[in-house]
Amino acid sequence: MLRAESSPVLRAQDLDWNLLNPAFQRDPYQHYRWERDHGAVHVLSAGDHTYYRIIGYDEIVTVLTDTQTFSSRTTNELGWLVFRDPPEHDKLRQAIAKAFTPRAIAVLDAPVAEIVTDLWNHVLADHGGDLHEFCNLLPVSVISLILGIPVSRRQDMSRWSLQSLEVLGSMFGFPVSSEAKQGSAELVDYLKGLLDSYRHRPADNIGAHLVTLSMQGEISEKDLLAFAQFLFVAGHETTMHSLLGGFGILAQDQALFSRIKEQPELIKVFVEEVLRYRTTIQAIARISTRDTEIGGVKIPKGAVVIPVLANGNLDSKKFEGPETFVLGRPNANQHLTFGKGIHTCIGAPLARREMQLTFEHAIKTIKSITLDPLRPPIPHIGGSTNEYGFDSLSVKIEPMPTLDLIFPRAT
Ligand code: HEM
Repeated sequence: MLRAESSPVLRAQDLDWNLLNPAFQRDPYQHYRWERDHGAVHVLSAGDHTYYRIIGYDEIVTVLTDTQTFSSRTTNELGWLVFRDPPEHDKLRQAIAKAFTPRAIAVLDAPVAEIVTDLWNHVLADHGGDLHEFCNLLPVSVISLILGIPVSRRQDMSRWSLQSLEVLGSMFGFPVSSEAKQGSAELVDYLKGLLDSYRHRPADNIGAHLVTLSMQGEISEKDLLAFAQFLFVAGHETTMHSLLGGFGILAQDQALFSRIKEQPELIKVFVEEVLRYRTTIQAIARISTRDTEIGGVKIPKGAVVIPVLANGNLDSKKFEGPETFVLGRPNANQHLTFGKGIHTCIGAPLARREMQLTFEHAIKTIKSITLDPLRPPIPHIGGSTNEYGFDSLSVKIEPMPTLDLIFPRAT
């Protein structure tokens, strides 16, 4: 059992602070509430390790925007952008940003909408079911699309991507299987072949654009390959759980569903509030590079500092009545779900569009959505990067009457 200490005096012994424990992962929010009630920064002792958990919104922003004091180099094993510090981070990010332009994202709207329609047709045909499959395949298909990977490979991509994420988790103490290591290696092999092919044949996708930048000497070949793999790790499970979070909220609140159905222009604000309310990556990590102090708590050089984004998103100094889902909350989009500062999620505009297009299409094509009373939602357990979501979300869906003719209920 782990022990939480803090200032002022804490009484945390009723809660199990083992973050790897399924009990914690099933409902981290009771722990978060306790943390918020007891200050903006906490010291958590876990065996030989000590973590500085940053809870308050402002304190999290301070940590994430002071890259000199708080390094992202929590691992040297992976050359991923997110684990790098300036100046090498900034140089690589600037190069990558040339491929991730707003225009490059905007032209994805039509093909992403097509993917949504195609996958959602199965949900309509089944009048619901477990939305996990839909929410899993959509982001995998979109990342495949931006890299130019054929749709026929999406089951492989899904498996390899989740296995790569598992390998990442091993760096933070989660168990990793030999299949996961193999799957991660297979993904790298596949991506290497794909990216190499773009050196000889022109293609119009973000992957090919990145290869051109590499041929022009802006990105090393090693960084290019690492980034392509990281796209799956960064953009797959995250978007999947955000989509599941949104469907979970809709399926539990009929009044909310009806409101959005009547006013689909509310989908943008719905998506922002889902992102705030159900923070997908609950916490990230930094290492302090010098002795410092945050929120009145002294942090020594070399400490593991954990900005708990999920807690920042529920800080009542920033968000009024933060534990309530408020459609149209004026500052919802100031959430920390995509991070803050130089590492702010590069895929945020794409993730937002995926979510918006999904909910627009889903709401247009269904009359109702409710949780399946026989199959209660199963919270996500065993995630490797502290992700919050569902391993299963079974719903019952009534397609719009006209669609009912196309997707009649199976008897
Ligand atoms: C709802 C979905 C998503 C969430 C919640 C999310 C969350 C985050 C967060 C919190 C960070 C910052 C990590 C840190 O500061 O340590 C980040 C960075 C990043 N994300 Fe996302 N992300 C999502 C979707 C995506 C997508 C779709 C892509 C690309 C296809 C993507 C690519 C990246 C990249 C490349 C970085 C690293 C940026 C850097 O280090 O400069 N993400 N993401």
